[in-house]
Amino acid sequence: MSSPRRIEHSTRFGRETVTPHERDRRMRRIFHHLAPHYDRLCDVMTLGLHRRWRRTYLGRISLEKNQSLLDIAGGCGETGSAFAGPGRYVVVLDSSLPMLKIGQTRRATGIDWVAGLSCALPFPDASMDVVTVSFGLRNVTCVGATLAEVLRVLKPGGQFHCLEVSNPSGVVRPLHHAFSRYVAPWLGMRITREPEAYDYFVESVLGFPGPREIRDLLVRVGFSGVRYKRLSLGIACIHSATRP
Ligand SMILES: C[S@@+](CC[C@H](N)C(=O)[O-])C[C@H]1O[C@@H](n2cnc3c(N)ncnc32)[C@H](O)[C@@H]1O
Repeated sequence: MSSPRRIEHSTRFGRETVTPHERDRRMRRIFHHLAPHYDRLCDVMTLGLHRRWRRTYLGRISLEKNQSLLDIAGGCGETGSAFAGPGRYVVVLDSSLPMLKIGQTRRATGIDWVAGLSCALPFPDASMDVVTVSFGLRNVTCVGATLAEVLRVLKPGGQFHCLEVSNPSGVVRPLHHAFSRYVAPWLGMRITREPEAYDYFVESVLGFPGPREIRDLLVRVGFSGVRYKRLSLGIACIHSATRP
């Protein structure tokens, strides 16, 4: 089992060790370049599976009228736009302005777009009914601080849902490893010509902790009712938890 430090605070960027500030800066640079290609990249890098995972994920989230949802690392609003509607408050927070701008252009109504970092959420305590993060937890520099912030902004009884790629076990593992290390970066490079992004991608996928470690971290941070569901033989995973 990896040490909690590795999960809670990442200073790894690809194969390098950098300061948290530098990691955030590089992350913004990567998404600055990837933003125009993001949709196509998701399809290519997951062989289209992200669409199925998102459907399962969205099906687990419920947002009533007059409730609020915060989507962290929300990018172009893939999750937020599924819940925007009259009488609901939906906010998408992301550290990349180009990602937010693309979302704003495409999905103009019913969403507040906020530039910010997940480890310092600009919202009051107990202000959100639901907090979500899809394909974002792997990217944030301070996972532990981010989850503590999620807990802080959720109302008591509020729900947290996270969709993230994961490392499968068993027979699929070597195949997944080969695809993530060699095929996905090659495909991604053909679309964006950004070697830094794909060096980072490989390490972020293969180095991300497994579902049990994320579950243990959620419990340590103070969530209750922590549960997870593996998708596609463990290539992706949904975690859900409640603020007590
Ligand atoms: C792979 S994209 C996921 C986008 C979207 N949630 C989705 O489902 O497709 C990861 C996003 O995380 C954002 N991000 C990375 N680190 C962040 C941080 N510390 N705080 C907020 N957003 C962050 C990036 O800018 C990027 O838009």
